[in-house]
Parts: sequence; C-alpha cells; structure tokens
Amino acid sequence: MVQKIFQTNAELKDWLSKQNSAIIFIPTMGGLHPGHQYLIQKAKEKKAKKNQIILVSIFINPLQFGKDEDYKKYPRNISKDAVLAFNAGADAIWAPDYVEVFPGGENSHFKIQVPQTLHNRLCGAEREGHFDGVATVIIRLIRIIRPEKLILGEKDWQQLIIIRKLFQELCIPIKIESYSTQRDQSGFAHSSRNAYLSDSEKVNAQSLPNALRAAKTEFEKEKIINLNKIASKIKENNLKIEYLKVVDPFSLKEKENLNGLCLLAAAVKCGSTRLIDHTFLMQRKPIIAIDGPAGAGKSTVTKAFAKKLGFIYLDTGAMYRAVTWLIINNSISPSDQAQINNNLRDLKLEFKNSSSGEQKILINNIDVTEKIRSPEVTSLVSEVAKQQYVRELLTKQQQVIGEDGGLVAEGRDIGTAVFPDADVKIFLTATPKERAKRRSIDLEKRGYEYSSIENLEKEIEERDKQDSERKIAPLKKAHDAVEICTDGMSIEEVLEELTYIFRSKIPEEVWATPNL
Ligand code: CDP
Repeated sequence: MVQKIFQTNAELKDWLSKQNSAIIFIPTMGGLHPGHQYLIQKAKEKKAKKNQIILVSIFINPLQFGKDEDYKKYPRNISKDAVLAFNAGADAIWAPDYVEVFPGGENSHFKIQVPQTLHNRLCGAEREGHFDGVATVIIRLIRIIRPEKLILGEKDWQQLIIIRKLFQELCIPIKIESYSTQRDQSGFAHSSRNAYLSDSEKVNAQSLPNALRAAKTEFEKEKIINLNKIASKIKENNLKIEYLKVVDPFSLKEKENLNGLCLLAAAVKCGSTRLIDHTFLMQRKPIIAIDGPAGAGKSTVTKAFAKKLGFIYLDTGAMYRAVTWLIINNSISPSDQAQINNNLRDLKLEFKNSSSGEQKILINNIDVTEKIRSPEVTSLVSEVAKQQYVRELLTKQQQVIGEDGGLVAEGRDIGTAVFPDADVKIFLTATPKERAKRRSIDLEKRGYEYSSIENLEKEIEERDKQDSERKIAPLKKAHDAVEICTDGMSIEEVLEELTYIFRSKIPEEVWATPNL
C-alpha cells in the first residue's frame, strides 16, 4: 500500500472510500516519539490478523490548551512525524487544518463538557476546560473518520478514562485499546513536551520517574506508600509538584486504602515545562470473576481465558457438585444439615492436573471429575449449595486459592461474595433456549441420556430460580459486572470480548500477556 499524507477531509474520504477496510485510528498532536511508535506497532500487530488500515492523525487541538499554555510552541514537524509513523507501520496520515476539523469555527459546533467529577481531578484541576477540549475534538475526529477502533496511550491516563466514559455514555460503538507508557533506558517517560527540556533540566526531571519507581518498589516490599517521602525525592532537583496522589484509576478519586488497583500519579513543573508520570500499584495479581446461570458457557471460556492469561482456573461449580456427589454417595438427604455438616468436617477437596493437562477434581482422594456431571448430581446440586455450612466452607477454600490473585474463577457468587474485590467482573448469560441446546450437546458428549431439550430448558430454569432465590449468596449480577449475552457468539468471540474487558480494567503496564 502506498503511504499517504492527507490534509483535507475530501482527499481523506475519497481515499478511504476506495479501501473498503475498517480503520484503526491513532489520534495524536504530532511531535511523535517512541510512545506513539509503540501504539502504531501494536496496531500493526493486531492488523496482521485482519484487513484493516492504520490511520494516524496529527492535529494540534487549540481547544485543549489554556490561555498561557504552550499551543504556539508545541512541536510541529510533519515530515519528521511522517517518517516515524510510516516506519512503525501507519498506512496513512491525516494532518488536517483547523477549518477541516471545525468548519465555521469551534463555536458553530457542539462542545462536550466532561463531568466535573472526572475533569477536576489530577491534571484537570489546574487545566480548566482541558479535557472538555480533548473530548470535543475526539468526537469531531471520529465523526469524520468513523474508525472501528481507537488506540490510545496509557501515559495520559486521565484522558483515556474520560474518553472511555464518553464513548460509553454516548453509546459510541468504537472499541478503545490502550497501551503502556514507553520509557527511555533511564525510565523517563517519552513525551512530546520532553523536547522543551534543556540538557540540565532533563537531568533534573529524572527525579520524577526515579521517585515513582522507588515508591513502587517500596510498596511491593512493605505494602505502604509514603507520599511525603516521594514528594521530597521529587523535589530534590528543584521540580515543583502540581499534584502527587494515590487515586482509584477509574473514578480518579483519592484512595483511602491501598486495596485493589491504585494509581500513583504526579504532575510537576521542571522550569517552565509541565511533566506528568504515574505508576500502578497492586497488592496481588488480578482476579477475574465470571458468574452467570447454568449452561451459559462459563466453563469453556473461563478455562480458555485462564490458559490465555497463564492464571489459575477455578471451577467453583465443580466444588459444589463434588460435595453433592459425596452426599449422594453417603446416602444423606440433601436437606439434612446436621448429617451434611458431619460428613464435611474433614473434607479434602483438591484440583489436580492430569498428564494431558485436564483439570481433575478429587474429593477425599476420589477422582469425581466425570461423576459430578451426572444428571443426578445436577438435579440435587442447587439444594446442597443452599446450605449455609456448605457455602461457608467452600467460600473459605476458594478465597484461600485466590489469595495471591492470578486467578479466573467461575460460579454464581464469585463477584458478589467470594471475591467482591475482583478486578474484572463478568456476568455471562444466554437465553434458556440456547443454554438448553448447549447442555444437550454436552450431555450427549458425556454419554448421558436426556428426555427432551424442552425438559432440559425447564430444569435449567428451575435451577436458575433456586440459585437466584436462595438466602445466602444468591446468583445475581454484581453491580460492577459487565454483562455478556453469548447467544449467537462463538467461543472465540466471547474470548475476544473477555480480553477486551480485561484490557480495559487492567492496564498493560500492570499485566502484559503476549497473547492478549
Ligand atoms: O455447569 P453448570 O452451569 O450447570 O453449573 P456449575 O457451575 O457446575 O454449578 C452447579 C451448581 O452449583 C449451580 O447450579 C449452583 O447451585 C451451585 N453453585 C453455587 O451455588 N455457587 C457457585 N459459586 C458455583 C456453583
């Protein structure tokens, strides 16, 4: 493909109409550096799988600069930018003039106002209207380009969070992918504004990434963050701190404790240059909770997703099923609490991997992997799973397995009761008809008989009802879970969606897996 630089919308649109391909869009203000290069390379890697075009825009958006800010001196060098962008894999560059983006001037177009709760935190507190300008221009740009996907850097984290929220609230069906901050060998984050720094300022500015890195190391060892200590380290070289905070990465509100994912973010002035940087803090590896009703396809995708991430796969349903099998095997009535408690006192439940890599479940040293899938176990499991003692016992065991994170767990109450602080919560559903169809295929594969798909559907609905109406830890969508209805979706498509959700909750800087 011939690499093109377009200035007018007309030229760009004419060219796009001839390509007939989806667009991956990387908006920039120019002054391209290795951070941009990385975004373009990532887009190219993804593109290898599909026929897509990588379009990089270069537009210095006046709306996002304050009165006394650096709009006039912002780096402008299209030919240098073009070399970097094309070498990294861009197919085209769009470098429109102001009138192409705002014909008739900005006052003849809608402007976006970012909610104050997001705008006035971190950078927006000092830069009045900055993110309104960012949000407004992004809407103008995507309106002209109509991309399938937007690629943004994690360096401007607040901007990323605001654009995600903007697309979500306006129901803009464009996927947003983000990639990590790129740094030079000394750990200094690449930024277009680094061009303003003199050699001696560059040396001074190094105390910003150094202090953040030292704070992260201390956090990993001691689980503490001492903002005063970090501030004095930053100030050692005459940097002036605009803000230094630990916030929730999504609400951007200051955190009162260090549970879950935290963002340690700072903005400083080095001479007249404003620099921002951050690091993420996390006490354990990520936990992904996948809940949903019977037969929604949780097991297949949870297993595959855990494998993709290199995480532990925890099938909590198998634990309830194993206990149910034991109760049936010991001829105890599923409603006889006293007998159940007695039988479970010295319970030994283990997951083991077979030589072929299949996960096996053993109860009191008996391999019950296949036995727990019998229709008899299925028909009694919800009754057993209602019992308080059973739930307490298994919940505790599940929490121990997930103590260090690095786990994908499936069940009914993972995001609500077992791991309410899970980093990613999914509620996987499908219509009862679809679920009955899938269950029938599964039963056939395992060699079990069933009367009819209609009866399977009834059984599934009955089990959903029992699971949703029980007193303790009922099946329900956690308030912060993302729902995926899998009707008509292939396993690959569900996995792709899970990956997308995971990546939007866990920054690449925190968890980078080659297959994601
Ligand atoms: O595979 P299927 O969708 O039939 O369900 P499962 O995950 O094997 O779970 C079987 C049963 O265990 C559910 O219907 C629930 O009654 C119970 N269960 C639970 O109560 N809590 C969990 N976290 C997981 C399963």
